[in-house]
Amino acid sequence: MASAPTRDDKFSFGLWTVGYNGTDPFGGPTREALDVVHVVEKLSELGAYGLTFHDDDLFAFGSTDAARQTQIDRLKQALADTGVIVPMVTTNLFSAPVFKDGGFTSNDRAVRRFALRKVLRNIDLAAELGAKTFVMWGGREGAEYDAAKDIRQALERYREAVNLLGDYVTDKGYDLRFAIEPKPNEPRGDILLPTVGHALAFIDSLERPELVGLNPEVGHEQMAGLNFAAGIAQALYHDKLFHIDLNGQRGIKYDQDLVFGHGDLHNAFALVDLLEFGGPDGGQTYTGPRHFDYKPSRTEDETGVWDSAAANMHTYLLLKERAAAFRADPEVQEALEAAKVFELGQPTLNEGESYDDLLADRSAFEDFDAAAYLGGHGFGFVRLQQLATEHLLGARG
Ligand code: GCO
Ligand code: MN
Ligand code: MN
Repeated sequence: MASAPTRDDKFSFGLWTVGYNGTDPFGGPTREALDVVHVVEKLSELGAYGLTFHDDDLFAFGSTDAARQTQIDRLKQALADTGVIVPMVTTNLFSAPVFKDGGFTSNDRAVRRFALRKVLRNIDLAAELGAKTFVMWGGREGAEYDAAKDIRQALERYREAVNLLGDYVTDKGYDLRFAIEPKPNEPRGDILLPTVGHALAFIDSLERPELVGLNPEVGHEQMAGLNFAAGIAQALYHDKLFHIDLNGQRGIKYDQDLVFGHGDLHNAFALVDLLEFGGPDGGQTYTGPRHFDYKPSRTEDETGVWDSAAANMHTYLLLKERAAAFRADPEVQEALEAAKVFELGQPTLNEGESYDDLLADRSAFEDFDAAAYLGGHGFGFVRLQQLATEHLLGARG
């Protein structure tokens, strides 16, 4: 049994996650709206350390300044009463009709200017609340029809927007970094920056790339048929894992936002192993929030909402425990060795070796027995995966 979550585990939840009222394209709400103060209290009780939100989750789109301030003050009071923090803030540039063709990349220039103003205002709020990460999920930045959107111009406008925001936080002296959240589709037929890889290339084109990283989501990469843990490894490799959205997804279909682990459990195991024990010294590779972006299924009542919130954290901690056992098992270490997993850490050339030296090395080519690989030199990757499976199932110590 994994221990109960504590603040040190850095679990955080979006206000829109537990706050999801069950609305989908085929039906209205199945639950009442939850008040932010109640949410903060419940999350605190369950052991979470953070709450995140979109501006519109806290105060409705178009709120008066006074109504907005009242909600901000109520949130601040709840944070002060519980010790919960706001590690991340994000902007809703997708729900209001004005954003039907996107925010930063709407064909309509006035909408783009309005979107920038909405984000700038929200950045001030994020800084005021002490958030360190500002997520940008461009759910409506995209199109259904090829002729409708000039993709290169859209990327140019995206770039213009993110460059401006980078200037803004720098000039204001805010300790805030941006995290772009890729998603292949939904709500748009095709969304710009659809995967981790696309977003990484985009970030490289920015004026202040050091301020911008990624907020990859389990389900989003899996909607594109991609291996999430592998995507996270590449984001880490480029030092771009600024934030993470944990949830569950079962294959290439609509965005399910299931509880973490309720999708591809093997990949969730590999992910937790990577985040917690994938460092060079067997330590953490990522020290930021473990943020859950899931939706309590619309079949559940409020009890089910809090049970599902707890389930995310519990599953994460169970996987952490299982991954630790996997790493500590001498048979696993031996299988990793046999599979030459550690050998990949060895440079292919010797120190100082040139291509001339390589060309002169007969053992590398002329005398190398490539034929022996037919029938020989098995790697034993399947054995390794079976050991992982047995640890995952709790069948080994
Ligand atoms: C989705 C996204 C969003 C974002 C959120 C934060 O598919 O709806 O995952 O939930 O994470 O807007 O920017
Ligand atoms: Mn999602
Ligand atoms: Mn998300």
